Amino acid sequence: MDDELIVVTGASGRIGRRLAVRLAAEGAHQRLVVRALDRAPELPGTETEIAISPGYRDVESMRTAFTGAGTVFLVSGRETADRVTEHRAAVDAAVDAGVQRIVYLSFMGAAPDATFTFARDHWATEEHIRASGLRFTFLRDCFYHDLLVRLVGDDGVIRGPAGHGRVAAVAHDDVADVATAVLLDERVHAHDGRAYDVTGPTAFTLGEAAQVLTHTTGRTITYEPQTVEEAYASRVSFGAEPWRWTAGCRRTRPSPPARSSRRRRRCAGCPGARRRRSGSGWR
Ligand SMILES: NC(=O)c1ccc[n+]([C@@H]2O[C@H](COP(=O)([O-])OP(=O)(O)OC[C@H]3O[C@@H](n4cnc5c(N)ncnc54)[C@H](OP(=O)(O)O)[C@@H]3O)[C@@H](O)[C@H]2O)c1
Repeated sequence: MDDELIVVTGASGRIGRRLAVRLAAEGAHQRLVVRALDRAPELPGTETEIAISPGYRDVESMRTAFTGAGTVFLVSGRETADRVTEHRAAVDAAVDAGVQRIVYLSFMGAAPDATFTFARDHWATEEHIRASGLRFTFLRDCFYHDLLVRLVGDDGVIRGPAGHGRVAAVAHDDVADVATAVLLDERVHAHDGRAYDVTGPTAFTLGEAAQVLTHTTGRTITYEPQTVEEAYASRVSFGAEPWRWTAGCRRTRPSPPARSSRRRRRCAGCPGARRRRSGSGWR
């Protein structure tokens, strides 16, 4: 086994790709897991291997992809009705392959009683990782910035059951920076057993987001709060499958204070952070 080999799943995605570029720039030895070779990031001249697997359900190919690695960065899969089963299969494959540590891309507010379906799913995955006996770190990211833009309807209205709650949405680049810092920290056990909320620097209401979007796009964008019941009903009317009805519907509750990912990003340059040779491909 190569203790320093890091496997990155979901490497064709927005987080995985950004992370791969950063790890390559730091000279890390990494193996990128993709579902199709032509979607793998190209990082010539770096210590990057590619593994192909059709998905987390395919235990054999996942086990092969993980074999020989010390650490797996597990990107949560795209939302499906039984995503937790897929995640559990990937975790089990890592255990079988002899991996020592998992850094899992979770979600803020992961809890068994979360109203938001996906936060419950992430909690269930976290529990499975805890029970696996592997060393672990959970990166619980907040909503991605670009997701907020996609909430704007064709009529320029953001609708959702957020009330006047605040969200400290985070950029993909910031999440990748935090992941890089955690994965390459020379203090070997510094992040073991830890769960980090990964947020943007400020928390804002959806009404404030609408104002900013109006200002930057020149189009009038407004926010109309829904009740949770109205939000569920709107998803039914879109023809969404039942498991999707509750996705994105989270009861309004006071937000925790925003914790800046910028602050955590300093980790990358902190005394314990491992600086390695620069490779090509940083963007
Ligand atoms: N925080 C948020 O606001 C938020 C919003 C949406 C989603 N998420 C979660 O965060 C994850 C990462 O975000 P992202 O923006 O990087 O997503 P993304 O661009 O959609 O990338 C997802 C990556 O995971 C791979 N993948 C998806 N399902 C898989 C499965 N069942 N087995 C193996 N690989 C699978 C995809 O492979 P392909 O390229 O082959 O499809 C892709 O490489 C998402 O997958 C989702 O779980 C978070």
